[in-house]
Amino acid sequence: MNTSPLAGIKIIDFTGVQAGPACTQMLAWFGADVLKVERVTSGDVTRHQLRDIPGIDALYFTMLNSNKRSLAINIKTPQGLEIMEKLIKDADILVENFAPGAMDRMGLSWQHIHELNPRLIFGSVKGFNEQSPWKDLKVYENVAQCAGGAASTTGFWDGPPTVSAAALGDSNTGMHLVIGLLTALLAREKTGAGQKVSVSMQDAVINLCRVKLRDQERLERVGYLEEYPQYPNGTFGDTVPRSGNAGGGGQPGWVLKCKGWENDPNAYIYFTIQEQNWANTCQAIGKPEWTDDPAYTTAKARQPHLFDIFAEIEKWLADKTKYEAVDILRKYEVPSAPVLSMKEIAHDPALRASSTVVEVDEEKRGKYLTVGSPIKFSDYVPTITGAPLLGEHTNQVLTDLGYTADQIAQMAAAEVIRNQ
Ligand code: COA
Repeated sequence: MNTSPLAGIKIIDFTGVQAGPACTQMLAWFGADVLKVERVTSGDVTRHQLRDIPGIDALYFTMLNSNKRSLAINIKTPQGLEIMEKLIKDADILVENFAPGAMDRMGLSWQHIHELNPRLIFGSVKGFNEQSPWKDLKVYENVAQCAGGAASTTGFWDGPPTVSAAALGDSNTGMHLVIGLLTALLAREKTGAGQKVSVSMQDAVINLCRVKLRDQERLERVGYLEEYPQYPNGTFGDTVPRSGNAGGGGQPGWVLKCKGWENDPNAYIYFTIQEQNWANTCQAIGKPEWTDDPAYTTAKARQPHLFDIFAEIEKWLADKTKYEAVDILRKYEVPSAPVLSMKEIAHDPALRASSTVVEVDEEKRGKYLTVGSPIKFSDYVPTITGAPLLGEHTNQVLTDLGYTADQIAQMAAAEVIRNQ
């Protein structure tokens, strides 16, 4: 069976950059008909940003807009707005992530959209939620990571707040919106009514930083956090400190050097000391005598000299590559993984086999790598296709809406639309 789960769901993708496009791309992978509505002049800004081939849409765009169609119209003209309103009347979902107020300025307030089509679900991404004193701000990825608590808790204690390479502000917010939209679709089955689904980037980051909020509460109650490197010899202030590569949960861990680290910036593994696996862990790292040593037997006993333990494990790792080390550790059920570079991920045959990383062949760009669905279904395998050219489907969409070839030609001449 390969029946697209969202076949028949019509989505107007009025989004740009990353947060919105990531959301609608995932819905497209699951079979929805996603129509990207773009400016006639240059489309989504990411088509032009960080280009690697002159004149060809950037990977930034192609990796966030696969499986979509593209309609280029100027919404700020009466005819452009009329086209948009026709699309809205026939759609299931409209997603946007413009700057605060932009939809209203285009004549597309939620109230108006809801009147045009009471069944339509309206998904909206903003930097901050409606109650925020910063709700008027324009926001990009790292702004959200800082406002969401991620940056203050990432990095090392003797360095500045640090942002993550993972798109916690952008793609993460898009994934939250996917959940909201699908929930609203299910709700519509019962009520027949659409609703507005809003996700702010700050809120989505905070949702992923919940363990740090947990730590803030613990810190305020007891004054220290025993799983942090600052314990027991360092000092704690009144806010959760940066903890480098500490485990973060009940199982201490750290990034440890392996053979070749002097020349390879990624010759490391992540090593976790799992409480319930201490005896096995001692066997694995050649320290069987630690198994029953009272200085090491319990997590509490180990805590004061965790970094001495990690130093000993690094001695054990000195003659092993990260892959050899993990191959040994897996036999002892020690939770560990090699630190993989993006190069290794790009060429990993297992990630290709699972379609987590896929190769797409596009007419203009040729072959390139992109991400596939991280969500695997037993009855459905998404097929990842290329991204549309700007206005590639304008003619088709307008013809389907009932416009004649003459009308389309006139609109193209007046730059109300752009077609290929
Ligand atoms: N036809 C006519 N006008 C169009 C159009 C179309 N098809 N599509 C967009 N526009 C207009 C908008 O109406 C807006 O006009 P206005 O400023 O006169 O109201 C203009 O294009 C630019 O909109 P926008 O992309 O929102 O502004 P920006 O480039 O200055 O800001 C962001 C970009 C990302 C900072 C901003 O959109 C934002 O903060 N979005 C919310 C949070 C978010 O999603 N951030 C990005 C995460 S990747």
